[in-house]
Amino acid sequence: METMGNLRRSHHCNVLNRSNIGEEVILMGWVLRRRDHGGVIFIDLRDRRGITQVVFNPEINPEVHAKAHDLRSEWVLAVRGRVQARPEGMANPKLLTGDIEVMIDELKILNQSLTPPFPLDEDVDVSDNLRLKYRYLDLRRPAMANNLIMRHRACQAIRSYLNGEDFLEIETPVLTRSTPEGARDYLVPSRVNPGRFFALPQSPQLFKQLLMVAGMDRYYQIVRCFRDEDLRADRQPEFTQIDMELSFVGEEEVMAVAEGMMKTLFAATLGLELAPPFPRMTYAEAMDRFGTDRPDTRFGFELVELTGVVKNCDLKVFREVAEKGGMIKSINAKGCAGFSRKDLDDLTAYVAQFGAKGLAWVKIKEGGEWQSPIAKFFSEQERREMMTALDAQPDDLLFFVADQPAVVHGALAELRLELARRLKLVAGDDFSFVWVTDFPLLEYDHEAKRHVAVHHPFTAPHEDDLELLESEPGKVRSRAYDLVLNGHEIGGGSIRIHRKDLQEKVFTALGISAEEISDKFDFLVRALELGAPPHGGLAFGLDRLMMIIAGRDSIRDVIAFPKTQKATCPLTDAPAPVSRRHLTELSLRPDWSED
Ligand code: AMO
Ligand code: AMP
Repeated sequence: METMGNLRRSHHCNVLNRSNIGEEVILMGWVLRRRDHGGVIFIDLRDRRGITQVVFNPEINPEVHAKAHDLRSEWVLAVRGRVQARPEGMANPKLLTGDIEVMIDELKILNQSLTPPFPLDEDVDVSDNLRLKYRYLDLRRPAMANNLIMRHRACQAIRSYLNGEDFLEIETPVLTRSTPEGARDYLVPSRVNPGRFFALPQSPQLFKQLLMVAGMDRYYQIVRCFRDEDLRADRQPEFTQIDMELSFVGEEEVMAVAEGMMKTLFAATLGLELAPPFPRMTYAEAMDRFGTDRPDTRFGFELVELTGVVKNCDLKVFREVAEKGGMIKSINAKGCAGFSRKDLDDLTAYVAQFGAKGLAWVKIKEGGEWQSPIAKFFSEQERREMMTALDAQPDDLLFFVADQPAVVHGALAELRLELARRLKLVAGDDFSFVWVTDFPLLEYDHEAKRHVAVHHPFTAPHEDDLELLESEPGKVRSRAYDLVLNGHEIGGGSIRIHRKDLQEKVFTALGISAEEISDKFDFLVRALELGAPPHGGLAFGLDRLMMIIAGRDSIRDVIAFPKTQKATCPLTDAPAPVSRRHLTELSLRPDWSED
């Protein structure tokens, strides 16, 4: 193998064009493709920026041409040659360098490569596990490289926006105490303090609040967070937040900064002009209309409550559900009366995954006739009222779920999304933001048999609802807000509690004992007594944002080295077993360890 010798790269693989014709250039990169056209050999040479076609002609340099015969995919080359126009009719308008090629005089093979375990051409479908095991090859694929380039550009734009708004970028510890964001912690044993553990931060929440107490006024950080929770397409065990906190602000200031940041971000990455302020919706309205606190507002098919209309109908399930304090809600799938029996069976099975015990349906025929297994259970008047409530027209298809609210909302929210996928209701370049506000402060956790914080325990309650904290804690609204984009929660935050008495009241409502408060949160409570200013903030999920901006279905595609669905890394084989000696050193004595 050769070193680069006196060859120094003169250009990257995406820049040469007609204006360079006649110049001598030196390129370096990987062999994407090799074509042997009756003597003349063509190589597409690739680097992260693009592709240049290089040519080996036996008549120009037989020795170099002979060497080019050996070249294979993903070999690493340095080449020197002269830029020339491609012959008549051979230009490739899809490439930035499509008008030219480089006739090679000197070839150095900097490294060979085994045949890659999967072809790196764009359109080849490769299993996720293989992609992650050979992530460095996967990332050579232009679409993947572009995701990382876009992410870099996004971070630059975000930093420059926040710097311009007078924020300070400040780092916070990774080895810390548990912050209750609601997931399980990753723990790190302390060797020098046997039996004690650090927790990796689920977010920098408490530190950023302490920075406000420290008078830093405006803080941000692009920061890694760790949560040991069940994974989904938009959840990773370690993920990145754009985290920020501001002093002497209310909701309006925080939301305005966040909107400004979104505007900058979308301009920098997609060249899109967003027009904030974004629409707002209370939590109650989001649940009522969409069945979820992260509504995809790019399409209709909203939920309509019919409990009042059908509570006395002859259909037993509906009547019984209404009697038991449940609800009946419906979606009008406009123009879908043509769905087949199989479609309806599939959708019924689909909603069953989310707990729905059935999915009743009605097809509206010409003249408003009902075609439905449940038609006979409704009076003429009930049908008319249902049609009016749903704005039902001929050719529409109505779906109904009857159950307790959580099941109805869960099932219909998912049905709505499934219908949108089937009917291709959303376009790739449609971005629909909505703020969801007025979340409940607390919710009852049936397993833990106590109230838990919906956001986190440091979120301020609405002034108007303070009275309810003791009497009806479930009814207290919080000063929390989420930013939702295309049905994804991309960010969330709140105005915080900055006074000790209120913080203690909320801890009490959460059933956290005085002992636990002094054990876990003493440092926070103390800081609240030492001149904590009013403050609030927000954190965005950078991975989720980039997934949406890059038009991907999984956040893994915008993370250089992500984990699998089972929280493993096929590349490094982490997590890995450790030796008994190592565990002993950490004062750990589990019974599953092997030497
Ligand atoms: P929250 O828990 O809502 O708030 O997190 C903020 C945002 O982080 C993203 N996110 C995730 N992304 C990928 N994988 C995960 N496992 C994951 N979990 C969360 C989401 C979410 O909106 N400290 C508060 C913020 C604050 O109050 O200022 C917090 O962490 O996009
Ligand atoms: P059944 O009388 O159980 O055959 O149900 C009649 C119709 O109502 C079927 O189409 C079921 O799918 C539907 N159905 C049953 N239970 C529910 C429910 N809880 N919510 C909505 N539809 C239901």
